[in-house]
Amino acid sequence: MELAPADLCAALVDELANQGWSIREHFLDPASVEKLAEECRSLWRHDAFHDAGVGQGDALLVRPDIRSDQVLWLDENRLTPPQRRYFERLEALRQAANRELQLGLFDFEGHLAVYPPGSFYGRHLDCFQNSNRRALTCILYLNGDGREEDRGQLRFYLEDGPDSPYFDVAPRGGTLVTFLSDRFYHEVLPARRERLSLTGWFRRRA
Ligand code: OGA
Ligand code: MN
Repeated sequence: MELAPADLCAALVDELANQGWSIREHFLDPASVEKLAEECRSLWRHDAFHDAGVGQGDALLVRPDIRSDQVLWLDENRLTPPQRRYFERLEALRQAANRELQLGLFDFEGHLAVYPPGSFYGRHLDCFQNSNRRALTCILYLNGDGREEDRGQLRFYLEDGPDSPYFDVAPRGGTLVTFLSDRFYHEVLPARRERLSLTGWFRRRA
């Protein structure tokens, strides 16, 4: 079922309130998703991406044994039209989440990510040891040709321990995954085909 943007936002925020996570298809219209994917592939071909790191600031390390995707950070002041369209949708989500859940979401940092075949991201939490500003993770998938199962599923763990129940999410274009960044472990299973996404975090005020 496709919902109008305002209803989709309200349903998403309800799920965050009830369970701390939400998975919503059709968060962004297919034409914008396809444009974002085209931009991503073009920037990738022009070598604009770099190895993703783990940690932050002086502690940032490239650790291909932990994650082997490539990223390109977005500059909020230089967004392309489809990026702006997505950021507008996110802004509506930010306001609804702050209004209904008092999350205190303040600003957003995000990057495009490409997982070439064979790459993955091991089980982790999205908050850094020395800073808890990241409050809400938002992952928009950009893959759209019906072979999403081959593109590295997101494995999402519901509890902290080693025996936690989990479920897998196919990274289908237009699907938005959101969750409280300090609560849920997750990993990206090895991609057999190239996998594209736009991943970001709403942060609290410093
Ligand atoms: C991340 C991450 C998951 C995904 O970039 O921190 O966990 O499905 N991404 O792309
Ligand atoms: Mn993560």
